[in-house]
Amino acid sequence: MEYNEKVMEHFMNPRNVGEIENASGVGTVGNAQCGDIMRVYLKIENSTVVDASFKTFGCGAAVATSSIATEMVKGKTIDEVMQITNKAVLDALDGLPAVKAHCSVLAEEAVRAALWDYSQKSGVQIEGLEAPKENHGHSHGHDEVQ
Ligand code: FES
Repeated sequence: MEYNEKVMEHFMNPRNVGEIENASGVGTVGNAQCGDIMRVYLKIENSTVVDASFKTFGCGAAVATSSIATEMVKGKTIDEVMQITNKAVLDALDGLPAVKAHCSVLAEEAVRAALWDYSQKSGVQIEGLEAPKENHGHSHGHDEVQ
């Protein structure tokens, strides 16, 4: 499989790895097919994402996309973050092999899940945001990440 230089660079030197203490929102999503899990932390002040980080049990492509996605959301307003699509993340990475496109969806979904968590905690309505799917690869509802 061919990864371009930009993907490799983000995989080798991922930005924003780890937790944010007292994050405004935390989102955890999983991909039922590969079983990988992604968690995104957002710090939000005045409707703007001032910090973002991630932790993942994901593949290299998931690491690279989350690295660049957390860079992309920093400094953006919530509305601007809502405009960031999976395709924008892929473009920023100069593309991924087609079989790895689903890994970039995980990053986008985790950002949205973190926004949802923030919205639930703060009571702030976010236009166009839907509740994250209760789909972490299990059908019986035990989906906490340890
Ligand atoms: Fe699961 Fe990439 S193979 S996130």
